[in-house]
Amino acid sequence: MNKNNPLPSAENGQKQKTTFSGNIGYILAVAGSAVGLGNIWRFPYLAAKYGGGIFLLVYLILMMTFGYAMIVSETAIGRMTGKSPVGAFSSFGSKKWLKCGGWINAVIPMLILPYYSVIGGWVVKYCWEYLRGQADALAGDEFFGGFISNSLVSEICFVVFVLAAFFVIVAGVKNGIEAVSKIIMPALVVLAIITAIYSVTRPGALAGVKYFLVPNFKDFSIMTVVAAMGQMFYSLSLAMGILITYGSYLKKDSDIEKNTTRVEWFDTGIAILAGLMIIPAVFAFTGGDIKTLKAGPSLMFITLPKVFDSMGFGNLIGSVFFIMVLFAALTSAISLFETCTATISEELRMNRTFSSVIVLAVSLLLGTASVFGYGIWSFVEIFGMQILDFFDFLTNSLMMPISAFFICILVIKVIGFDGIAEEVKRSSKFNRQPMYYVVTKYIAPFFLMIILASSIASTLGLITI
Ligand code: PFF
Repeated sequence: MNKNNPLPSAENGQKQKTTFSGNIGYILAVAGSAVGLGNIWRFPYLAAKYGGGIFLLVYLILMMTFGYAMIVSETAIGRMTGKSPVGAFSSFGSKKWLKCGGWINAVIPMLILPYYSVIGGWVVKYCWEYLRGQADALAGDEFFGGFISNSLVSEICFVVFVLAAFFVIVAGVKNGIEAVSKIIMPALVVLAIITAIYSVTRPGALAGVKYFLVPNFKDFSIMTVVAAMGQMFYSLSLAMGILITYGSYLKKDSDIEKNTTRVEWFDTGIAILAGLMIIPAVFAFTGGDIKTLKAGPSLMFITLPKVFDSMGFGNLIGSVFFIMVLFAALTSAISLFETCTATISEELRMNRTFSSVIVLAVSLLLGTASVFGYGIWSFVEIFGMQILDFFDFLTNSLMMPISAFFICILVIKVIGFDGIAEEVKRSSKFNRQPMYYVVTKYIAPFFLMIILASSIASTLGLITI
């Protein structure tokens, strides 16, 4: 530990509010945060676009090294301070950059939550339509575009989604987040397995399984690494204050290292299942046309409904699939909501319910702008992007690498590796300590700057990602 900057005492840090009731509750809540639209909607189209099996291999290596190191850092910082990001950073001194590091971690979820809930609203709409037996209509070319440009209907779906997250937050950490995660996460696993089995057993699907699982080194490029890295941040909910906040609710005897390993494998397992649900199904549907798979973000809302419709039992399989996506999106939105609520109640010293009402109001405001951006305000463009895409770019491509950089610097310069090790070793063996050290000190800061530079370069049109 750095002698000039003693760590906040653990006991002070533990004077906090509520905690998870036990390890399982914590793991499910963190896994619920990690497993979201990132796994089911984003991972499969990126994997398809950046080389299939080779993308998966690079992703696994990054997840076990870089992802592991970031989760451990954030959780340890949260648990040793007992605070959400702003308070956690400020516990180590009053320097300006510490304030800045805390706030950037805290602001990211407030900017993500609104647009994430808009996409959550799209999922609500698809669930509703499949449950009403509208698989044919959903498979039509015009459905998705027609829906998102109808600002009123999209707004209603968005509000339904955001209110669902709000009510869970008002119920609290144990009775809300933990209780919901305990029911939703196992259900999600069962639904994912059923859908994946159905998909890989379609005629012609095996070629898709092979493309997704078997690495072909010819498909490797530097963009495979950049894309896998960005996806890993997104998927593991890194560098957005969530893991610091959830770490602050973690009991001192919970094994940080074991929990981290469980969460990263659970998250990756669901992403792999999602790949197995989507890639082979699209292969079977198109006769192996990789171009369709590269459709990008529209894969889940435009291509998949066509695939489901062609499969037989379209309404049933569509309902199961989109209910699963809804569960995943909801538990992630809850974690974003919780981080914002915790920051406001700590920093402005307000009670939890009032803080969550503020978060709800901001989400409704910014989310409505994103909804309108595809509808009545579609003429608005920011750097050539629609409002929702702009929020996504701002948070994931620009702010997240900077925020992660602040976390690395906090560990390297202020807390020190011994400080982190001391916290982790309260309850874990910390077997991967040497790897943690090398990754955090030498690899992470360098890679983070590469991600930032490549995002900026691609926005300026200098490279294509
Ligand atoms: N990790 C979650 C997901 O993969 O969907 C939550 C999340 C992370 C949402 C990052 C949004 C985001 F930008």
